[in-house]
Amino acid sequence: MNQPFTVAIDGPAAAGKGTISRAVAARFGFAHLDTGALYRALGVKGGDPVAAAQSLASEDLARDDLRSLEAGAAASRVAAIPEVRAALLEFQQRFARRPGGAVLDGRDIGTVICPEAEVKLYVTASAEVRAQRRWLELGGDPAQVLAEVRARDERDMGRADAPLRPAADAVILDTSDLSIADAVALAVAEVEKALRP
Ligand code: DC
Repeated sequence: MNQPFTVAIDGPAAAGKGTISRAVAARFGFAHLDTGALYRALGVKGGDPVAAAQSLASEDLARDDLRSLEAGAAASRVAAIPEVRAALLEFQQRFARRPGGAVLDGRDIGTVICPEAEVKLYVTASAEVRAQRRWLELGGDPAQVLAEVRARDERDMGRADAPLRPAADAVILDTSDLSIADAVALAVAEVEKALRP
């Protein structure tokens, strides 16, 4: 396929966006952009996040401390700054419309970055289930992990600029009671439907 085809995958922290996005990208041979990594890289870099966003480089995205709880919390804070989001907009939009298909996962892909995406999924799960998944991945104090998940939801959903919410035409995928294989199969079916209507 040579034309643009965008799969927008949004949702709260630890809902399964990353796993589903990677699987969909691999299944259809699409490029994948984890947009949370952009904000995580700025969060851990420190200094002026707006200047950092304007000169974000690939080595910033290669750091191996990007997956920590602290990096997620720092990302969520810098992501509330409108000038930071504006500086990252064009790169994400260009990625989304590259020829050959692209999967982007984040918070505002279907609402702000690529409202014309051919497929929009809103992947979610209960806060308890998401906290358990994060805890299995990263360990730590379970109560603190749950508190962190809830704090991040509040910040991501409550900010004025590009708050986390499903696009009006997004398909909601609640993974609370789904296996990874079933969640991936549902996402793949939505892409198939859009590719071959
Ligand atoms: O998906 P993640 O947990 O890696 O994202 C980290 C934080 O970055 C998230 O809490 C909010 C922010 N983010 C955002 O505001 N917009 C995006 N498209 C992706 C992430």
